[in-house]
Amino acid sequence: MKKIMAAVLAAAMMVVLLCACNTGSVSSAKIKVVDIELSQESYAFAVSKSDKELMSNVNEYLAKIKGDGTFDAICDKYFGNGTPTKVESKALDTGKDQLVVATSTGFEPFEMVDSAGLFYGIDLEIAAGLASYLGKELVIQDMKFESVVTSVQTGICDIGMAGLTVTAKRQALVDFSDSYYNAAQMLIVKADDTTFDNCKTADDVVAILDKLTSANKIGCQAGTTGEIYITGDLDQGDDGYGFKGIPVTKMAYDYAALAVTAMINGEIDYVVVDNAPAKAISKSVNGK
Ligand code: ARG
Repeated sequence: MKKIMAAVLAAAMMVVLLCACNTGSVSSAKIKVVDIELSQESYAFAVSKSDKELMSNVNEYLAKIKGDGTFDAICDKYFGNGTPTKVESKALDTGKDQLVVATSTGFEPFEMVDSAGLFYGIDLEIAAGLASYLGKELVIQDMKFESVVTSVQTGICDIGMAGLTVTAKRQALVDFSDSYYNAAQMLIVKADDTTFDNCKTADDVVAILDKLTSANKIGCQAGTTGEIYITGDLDQGDDGYGFKGIPVTKMAYDYAALAVTAMINGEIDYVVVDNAPAKAISKSVNGK
């Protein structure tokens, strides 16, 4: 299962990279990010409601690495020009004292896996530090994003570390740690699309989105807050995130890179995804 997913992801990345290669020169950008925050979200780690001890250890560890500079040093590797430290996942063995982490790679700079099966990214470097802080072996379970919260809720994994936005709906299923990162949804559009060029604020972007129709298609990663941003959740009252939705046809893909590939191929108009991954994808597609 894991192998198949890795293969699918590798194929998706390959398509994205091939697009990058074909473009060649500087003027050949294929996509661009509309650099305006459309939502206010915070990332946190998810732990089973029945594991209060792990939850308090996680918060203790987060406070420690935020206080001693470790957290900033990890972020600098990915937002600055540092070199990632790759981490190895041990094989799952219920007889051993392990920290089983649920993640969903293909979400740069938070979780990635290389062709040798080594993991890296902000979340996964924190995962490695947390495991050693707890004196446990690190096991990383790479799955579709949609399964991350469920796997923690059902006890298949100990902790979800996947650029997970805290939402009321997820809070009903799992406990969230203290937050470690503020994020926002952003739009990715084709490089030659001028629709949002004059937008200065989120309201400007939303005013244009509101005029779209079901003939327009916006892509997202399945199960993410980006998906909810498109479909809207005002009908869920306090259980919702408060997104009013966009009157378009939503196209959900297993990975954000697949949505971007669909856009490049002219199958959809725009993509909605978290800001840091939007910029990372754009950099890799455009080759700069
Ligand atoms: N922050 C968004 C959410 O929680 C997207 C997270 C996607 N994460 C990933 N590892 N693919 O819904």
